[in-house]
Amino acid sequence: MDTLVHVLVIPVPAQGHVIPMMELAKKLARHGFKVTFVNTDFIHTVVMNASTKNEEEDDDDGIRQVSIPDGLELGDTRTNFGRLSEAMQRVMPQKLEELIEKMNADGMKIKCVFADNCMTWALGVAKKMGIKGVAFCPAPATSLALFSTIPKLISDGIINSNDGSILRQQEVHLSPKMPAISTETFPWVCFTDMDLRRSAFQHFVTSTEDLRYADKIISNSSVELEPETFSSFPNMLPVGPLLATNTRGNQGGNFWPEDLACLSWLDQQPVSSVIYAAFGSSSSHDQKQVLEIALGLELTGKPFLWVVRPDTDKEATEGLASFEERTVSRGRMVSWAPQEKVLRHPSVACFVTHCGWNSTLQGVSNGVPLICFPYSADQFLNKRFICDSWKVGLGLEKDESTGLVRKHEILTKVNQLLGDKIYKSRAMDMKEKLLHSVREGSSYRNWSNIVEWINEEQVIA
Ligand SMILES: *[C@@H]1O[C@H](CO)[C@@H](O)[C@H](O)[C@H]1NC(C)=O
Ligand SMILES: *[C@@H]1O[C@H](CO)[C@@H](O)[C@H](O)[C@H]1NC(C)=O
Ligand SMILES: *[C@@H]1O[C@H](CO)[C@@H](O)[C@H](O)[C@H]1NC(C)=O
Repeated sequence: MDTLVHVLVIPVPAQGHVIPMMELAKKLARHGFKVTFVNTDFIHTVVMNASTKNEEEDDDDGIRQVSIPDGLELGDTRTNFGRLSEAMQRVMPQKLEELIEKMNADGMKIKCVFADNCMTWALGVAKKMGIKGVAFCPAPATSLALFSTIPKLISDGIINSNDGSILRQQEVHLSPKMPAISTETFPWVCFTDMDLRRSAFQHFVTSTEDLRYADKIISNSSVELEPETFSSFPNMLPVGPLLATNTRGNQGGNFWPEDLACLSWLDQQPVSSVIYAAFGSSSSHDQKQVLEIALGLELTGKPFLWVVRPDTDKEATEGLASFEERTVSRGRMVSWAPQEKVLRHPSVACFVTHCGWNSTLQGVSNGVPLICFPYSADQFLNKRFICDSWKVGLGLEKDESTGLVRKHEILTKVNQLLGDKIYKSRAMDMKEKLLHSVREGSSYRNWSNIVEWINEEQVIA
């Protein structure tokens, strides 16, 4: 029988979520836990195809990857979020229970389940089976605080109960101390497809209700980043930022092979000279916008490293050929970058980002000032943190007539950000505070308490 304490980790089945959750799994493994990482069959296949590992084989960090069905056929598209969400809620709890039963029978007794805060049905399964459960919030804790306030927003007549659409445009305070949040930046409002908005909203509502099954709620944030939120919602414990700190700094769970050559290219660039531009794993800019970004980067006259994903619209990348030729001496386009290493590289001067929480944290944890180009979910909220609370970045404004961020706007903001040393110095200051927090400060202590609590013998009430 295995003497290690066994825990199970369950991510949301989407790239932006699988990679960070793998970081959490690795952190647990480094603390001596035996970790089983549970993907959906569909995601598992994608991850295994991008990796050199054999199925079921433990990876170098001792993490075992397994999978269960998400309720759809393998060949089905997963673009209809409503269908996927419904299928997952219907099929996955039973499958997870069977998996845990089987593992228990094999002597790998599960002591704790870690689930993403959008997969909290899994904590219901844990509760039912008498296993400890932790909800993990990979986004800002403020967004989870917002979700938990949804019933009140409905009863106050600010949003409707069906799809969360705004009934009264205003600024809301989740608590007297917290900064106002504009209804426009509510994460579900960015979905202009009303079916998608309704299913996303309902998914948030259900998942947040299921938080009642969580024994603990932890978040990839720190008190330095969201002080008012953590004092108003003391049941949320900051344990982050959880950086990729394994010795090789390699990330698991990639969907696309990383372009490592860009690191040696960065080595050849002057210190603090390169604009790094990357927009996450699911943003999609149309052809016109892609071209404006290209021309904007060209106008700056600075070296740049730009991530253009392989699944970017063919049409969108057409017309970049001549741009690539013109900028070949100082620019580089890659399909997927080792982002953590890039942001840690001294040649990087600033980061043009979609403001996903993970990218936001990677930027500030490395002392890199940011230029914000949010497009959905919590990204608008994150932009407000970056620009208004921490003041370590600037937002790109869209041109009203075209709805595009134009090349001159990019040039202006890059010059403004790099022309004023205050942004870099605030970013470096934030970096120091965050490092302190995870090394010995409150994030470190909260994490240590969780580890201790998992190891405690269960008292069955
Ligand atoms: C936490 O955020 C960092 C960015 O600072 C990211 O690299 C990491 O993957 C995230 N971890 C989790 C578990 O969300
Ligand atoms: C963080 O997110 C970015 C963009 O979505 C992605 O490129 C990167 O691989 C992620 N990294 C980690 C450690 O989660
Ligand atoms: C956990 O984080 C909170 C911030 O929300 C902090 O006040 C508290 O002291 C931390 N707990 C420990 C044990 O340090």
